[in-house]
Amino acid sequence: MKSLFFLPALLGLAFSHPAAPSELDTRAAPQIAHFFFQAAATGYNLTVPADGNWYPTNNGLNVNIITALDFTVTQCEFATHQPVAYNYQLSGDLPYPKEQFAVGPPQPIDRVRCWGYCLQVYDDCVRNGQFVGTCCNGFCAANKCRPYVYPQDIPWPN
Ligand SMILES: *[C@@H]1O[C@H](CO)[C@@H](O)[C@H](O)[C@H]1NC(C)=O
Repeated sequence: MKSLFFLPALLGLAFSHPAAPSELDTRAAPQIAHFFFQAAATGYNLTVPADGNWYPTNNGLNVNIITALDFTVTQCEFATHQPVAYNYQLSGDLPYPKEQFAVGPPQPIDRVRCWGYCLQVYDDCVRNGQFVGTCCNGFCAANKCRPYVYPQDIPWPN
């Protein structure tokens, strides 16, 4: 769950070690997550069902930034053959900044696994007083998923 008030705390806790899949994530059909894996001036797109299974990227480019176009990047894991650091950041995309992991050092991403659901910008995140779900690229405020505002919502300055 993300809310405006708790966002900084959640970011600090969750983003260095992505959370494990939870039972709350089980529903009928998996959400489909779209990614852009940037490798310097090039890159590739990948679509992954958020069903908890690993999917190969089948691509050996040295990725430096993973952008979750319509999903919560912290509800995914990325496997590499070498040790890697994933630093959470926001893209400068307008009007809706996207969640990203900067990959250090840049290297091939072998497999991807995502789980759970998230809501798109301006979807209801609270309905009839009930929390509906996590916002994909934003936070829950006044019952709606609000877009992050770049650069103010960058969790910490680099
Ligand atoms: C990835 O998808 C985006 C949006 O559909 C497209 O503009 C871009 O050209 C694609 N990039 C590659 C490398 O295929």
